[in-house]
Amino acid sequence: MRLFVVTGSAARQKTECAIVGLHESGALAGAAAQLDGTLGGRLARLLQRGDLRGKAGECVLLDVDHGPVQRVLVVGLGKKEGFGRKQYRKALAAALATAVKTGARDAVSYLGLEPVEHTDVYYRARLAAEALGHALYRVPAIRSKRQPPEPRLKSLGVAVAERDQKADAERGLEHGRAIAAGTALTRDLANLPANFCTPSHLAQRARELAKTYRSIKTQVLDERDLKRLKMGAFLSVTAGTDEPAKLIVMRYQGGRPGEAPVALVGKGVTFDSGGISLKQPPGMDEMKFDMSGAASVFGALKAAAELGLRQNLVGVVPACENMPSGRATKPGDIVRSMSGQTIEVINTDAEGRLILCDALTYTRRFKPAVVVDVATLTGACVIALGAHLSAVMSNDEELAAELETAGRRAEDRCWHLPMAEEYHDQLKSNFADFANACGREGGAITAACFLAKFTAGLRWAHLDIAGTAYLGGSQKGSTGRPVALLMDFLIHRR
Ligand code: BES
Ligand code: MN
Ligand code: ZN
Repeated sequence: MRLFVVTGSAARQKTECAIVGLHESGALAGAAAQLDGTLGGRLARLLQRGDLRGKAGECVLLDVDHGPVQRVLVVGLGKKEGFGRKQYRKALAAALATAVKTGARDAVSYLGLEPVEHTDVYYRARLAAEALGHALYRVPAIRSKRQPPEPRLKSLGVAVAERDQKADAERGLEHGRAIAAGTALTRDLANLPANFCTPSHLAQRARELAKTYRSIKTQVLDERDLKRLKMGAFLSVTAGTDEPAKLIVMRYQGGRPGEAPVALVGKGVTFDSGGISLKQPPGMDEMKFDMSGAASVFGALKAAAELGLRQNLVGVVPACENMPSGRATKPGDIVRSMSGQTIEVINTDAEGRLILCDALTYTRRFKPAVVVDVATLTGACVIALGAHLSAVMSNDEELAAELETAGRRAEDRCWHLPMAEEYHDQLKSNFADFANACGREGGAITAACFLAKFTAGLRWAHLDIAGTAYLGGSQKGSTGRPVALLMDFLIHRR
């Protein structure tokens, strides 16, 4: 996609689709007023007749047929008061979804000229580029019939009011493009079915990243290595499947050599049947998305490489399937983690924490400045926060706050949940150092408490994305979250 910044009057800017905004019960202003000159007052008439109401997300497409503008797309912005980045982003998404359905090969958005609360030129541009990425995204469909035609829209301009805002907007577009590329990779990987997207497939994709970007080096550890490393917790999850497990390590070097990296650790359960603690059939297909944390680590690394982020990163992805069989781990079994701590496996469906705990221990060898793990870890998190916000838990209040702030800026929000001592007590075991599961109360937090037992002395945060990583129902598919959050956090670090 081609992204560029536009200055000057909308009436003179050549485009196949000019996108202008209109607030509810608003009057024509800014770019819409400028264009209405070329349109002979058509917008004003439509407004007067009540055909344009400015309802949030409502799109009206007008054919112009003369002058430099081929089409005008009016998108409703809703109420003017409180028009912030969430509303701005929704309006962009609606407008671009409409624009993509037309034959237009380019569009220019004038929405960034409207006042958007707490959103500077950089973010207006960045969010526009990210929105275009989402509008152009197509699932890697595996169909026998020919694929639907490629969208024609290839190019987006974003308008700024003043010439001296151009540099900030261009930086926003550059970052937005990188984040969009990373997010699309995340969505591709997560959307693939588990019979395609195996741990070996993920390993292959990690090697491809290293081939594409000189700044990325990939190393793949197999089960022999995991045994040598004494990763008893990770190995207990993969015990029931025939599909070989992999520990994927991707190093991105953008900072000084020797500079402490940020470690991103992603849960890569390519299918979670629950194991012997087998899940119920309804919705079980969605457990192909249980590697979304891993996919977001891939996406963040790709975005960092596209951006030329000047920091060192290390992505660590434990990847395996969780399946029942005669060799599967059984409820009550006790396993020894790489850290030496022993775990009573009360429930084989609480497998994410078992692979993550060994991955977190392994991550220590990189002497990371910060560790953030990302995981579709608990159904309890979905109950607590629904599909809108991810959960963040941390042994460092400041780090949790930084991630919350990044989520707000990136419009990829998360909410800080507590990890008080009382929750730790729920994981007590009569037979091992602790259990992997307990009662349902506070389930998102007790899962984080389990991980905390492996992150002492690290500056660590955990993102539970069980509710946000993918949508269900007719919208079923990966959202690409929380790549934007992670990238915003990294961009603002220091
Ligand atoms: N992958 C699931 C969590 C999940 C549930 C993600 C729903 C997305 C939607 C995880 O491995 C799991 O099964 N967790 C259990 C833990 C419990 C057994 C302690 C859960 O949340 O029920
Ligand atoms: Mn599970
Ligand atoms: Zn799982």
